[in-house]
Formats: sequence, structure tokens, C-alpha cells
Amino acid sequence: MIIAVDGPAASGKGTIARALARHYGLPHLDTGLLYRAVGLNLLRWGGDPDSEFAAVRACDFAQIDFDDPELKSETVGGLASRISVYSLVRETLLSRQQEFARQTGGAVLDGRDIGTVIAPEAEAKLFVTASPEARATRRHAELVRMGKAVHYDDVLLDIRARDERDMGRSTAPLLQAADADLLDTSDMTIDAAVQRAIALVEARL
Ligand code: C5P
Repeated sequence: MIIAVDGPAASGKGTIARALARHYGLPHLDTGLLYRAVGLNLLRWGGDPDSEFAAVRACDFAQIDFDDPELKSETVGGLASRISVYSLVRETLLSRQQEFARQTGGAVLDGRDIGTVIAPEAEAKLFVTASPEARATRRHAELVRMGKAVHYDDVLLDIRARDERDMGRSTAPLLQAADADLLDTSDMTIDAAVQRAIALVEARL
């Protein structure tokens, strides 16, 4: 069984994907980490994120520790969003994601194009979203908890810019697959969103 969870930044898709993986006893892949790893390589190597060639060369995970907190930084997230527009980068990361999805017993993958490109055959697809303001409020609180001095307005601007890039790119843009269930978490607690996600997946099995 493959469960695809797509959606914009800070929509709750990661939390929901992890909860679904626990619930069904499936392995989980946060595909955003792959794009972030490419961004982190560029940062460390001093590569130019405006060069598709440099970004493809940075698709190398040998030196990446996927538990490295730097992967979660806003700088690396911004770089990930910039290099994710390149079709050669997406092609390079595609097979790694599809191999993960093909595991015996299945998997939960979360990202932007899982239900549309990576695993269109997935048994259950969720498109998790929330208003930009609700997402900015969550991301801002998360950053403040981490001790970062950031303004809500800057976080909102960043979220809007990332949405625009993710939805506007020509290769594998962020969009709801025709057969995906929509889950708007704007006014939901995490627990309520997880329960709703499980109910939507159950209805597809
Ligand atoms: O989900 P996360 O915020 O970690 O993803 C970082 C960036 O990587 C996103 O803004 C998006 O541009 C890109 N990404 C993507 N396709 C995916 C996962 C992430 O383009 N499947």
C-alpha cells in the first residue's frame, strides 16, 4: 500500500504522514529532505543555485546526514525550493523516491508531487493544505520555539514566495491529483487532522 501525502509548506503534511506511517506500520519518506540535501550541498560547496548544472552535481547524498538539523533551516529550505524547479534535478531524485515507494508492504511518502508524478498508482492520496496565514502562524511559532528572532510578516512572505515557486514551476508543480482527497487543516488541531487523515485513507482501502 502506498500513501501519498502532498501539500504546501507548513500545511501539516509531515506530521500527518508520520502519524499515518505509525498507524499502518509503514516506512515513511519525507521527500522534501532530498531537495533540502541538494540545497545543503550547494551551500557547503559554494555552488550556484541559479545553475542547473551545479544543482544536478549536488544531487549526491554520500556526505549527508539526514538527521542534520541544518537541513531544516530556512536558508536550506529556500535553496531547496529554488533548485526544485530544475527538471534534471527532479529526474535525478525520482528513482530514489520510486525505489522507496516500491518496498514490500508499502510506504508513506510526503512531498509536492507524490500523487501526481512519483506514485500516481498510490492507493490513497491526501492533499493537505491550510491558509497561508494559518501556515505562517505555525511556522512562526515553530521558529520562535527554536529560539529564532523572526517576524510573522517575513514568515508569511516566505511562505507565499515558496507557494508561488512550487505551484508555478513547469515541471511537477504542486497541485492536487484528480483522485486525491483534500484535507484543509486551517482550523484543525493536529489530533483532529490526523484522525481525519486516517478516516480518508480507510475510505480508500
Ligand atoms: O517539504 P519541504 O519544505 O521540506 O520541501 C522543501 C522544498 O523542496 C519545497 O519548497 C519544494 O520546493 C521542494 N520539494 C519539491 N518536491 C517534493 C518535496 C519538496 O519540489 N516532493
